[in-house]
Amino acid sequence: MIERRSDGALISPSVLNSDLTRLADSLAMLEQGGADFVHLDVMDGMFVPNISIGIPVVESVNATTTLPLDVHLMIDAPERYIDAFVDAGADILTVHVEATRHPHRALQMIAERGIKTGLALNPGTPVSHAIELLPLCDLVLIMSVNPGFGGQTFIPETLARLRRLREAIDEGGFKTVIEVDGGVSNANAAEIVAGGADVLVAGTALFRSDEGLTAAIGSLRAASLGS
Ligand code: DX5
Ligand code: ZN
Repeated sequence: MIERRSDGALISPSVLNSDLTRLADSLAMLEQGGADFVHLDVMDGMFVPNISIGIPVVESVNATTTLPLDVHLMIDAPERYIDAFVDAGADILTVHVEATRHPHRALQMIAERGIKTGLALNPGTPVSHAIELLPLCDLVLIMSVNPGFGGQTFIPETLARLRRLREAIDEGGFKTVIEVDGGVSNANAAEIVAGGADVLVAGTALFRSDEGLTAAIGSLRAASLGS
């Protein structure tokens, strides 16, 4: 189970579009700013049209920060690499429902390793694809852009999807938290949280913020409350 916080959304900053030569500095600023996790986007050039970071970087981040690692696998057949990412230090490991024929088994494999399980849904995937899997999910990640790149615009239909998923989670009495990823900013954080999100992933909004990375985390959390 992933604990919510009472003072706003959980914040999981994505380092995808940060200066990766300065990752240690960024991680220190994220800790100082009160981030709840660090979100690591792993892309294989097959499931998504981009290639990003992999196991060695996850290992290095794990050795450098006290923040829990929220690892988002955008790779085909992710079950091949579950053990490797757990060994590298993932605390939450999220697989895409579209990327595997056996999402149930993939989630079981993650849970058996004793870390938190996550299931991600692309914008075009019906929310109903997560329902049968909710008993196995600590987290469901709703993509609010098509995965592959930072800096895209939030897809507004996401809000209705969030409400449907929230309803299903609450009706079933599950403890699953909802994470939203893509185009999240101070301008839309409140409506995303009102729609039912517990965890906000943000890359551009934090790393390109005028007030600086450390302050931007608190601002996003405050914005999530509508303040
Ligand atoms: C997109 C990634 C996101 C992305 C978020 O495929 O999963 O985590 O980096 O970046 P922004 O906040 O810029 O949309
Ligand atoms: Zn992501």
